[in-house]
Amino acid sequence: MPISVNGSAVEPPQDPRVSLLDFLRERLQLHGTKKGCDQGACGACTVLADGERILSCLALAVQYDGHAVTTVEGLAMTGAGEAGVLHPLQQAFIDHDGFQCGYCTPGQICSAVGMAAEARRGVPSHVTADLSAEEIALSRDELRERMSGNLCRCGAHNGIVAAITEVYAAEAVR
Ligand code: FES
Ligand code: FES
Repeated sequence: MPISVNGSAVEPPQDPRVSLLDFLRERLQLHGTKKGCDQGACGACTVLADGERILSCLALAVQYDGHAVTTVEGLAMTGAGEAGVLHPLQQAFIDHDGFQCGYCTPGQICSAVGMAAEARRGVPSHVTADLSAEEIALSRDELRERMSGNLCRCGAHNGIVAAITEVYAAEAVR
């Protein structure tokens, strides 16, 4: 069964040892997804699998046989409905200077999309006061905690938080 990558059916690699990250970058030439640490510590390789954020450096490509993987390249299409139009969060990163070197940016954006979906489903974080709450407001503390797996080493965090806040803070308060 193929893997759906950004809506296109792709046969998984024959070698079961190939990470999803290497498969995306080396086989499919989707270089938006970045390899930072290659050991699950930086978040630069974050993509969405069936809408959930995952670290593609810690995943084997064959695991996603029959599943849908979305990278930062595919977000432009899913967010806007047509190719070539940026996802609202991609645009917000530009508007708020949410990057400097840009290396962590694709991971930050994919992670934030998955993070917002988690908040909408009422999944608590380490700083959520009421664990039984069905409604979780994406306060600054919630947002920073939920995005803490995505490191930015060149100081763009304020812009990153501003971009995510603009797109998701209001809608997550249900
Ligand atoms: S490259 Fe995957 S977490 Fe750093
Ligand atoms: S924008 Fe440079 S590491 Fe994040």
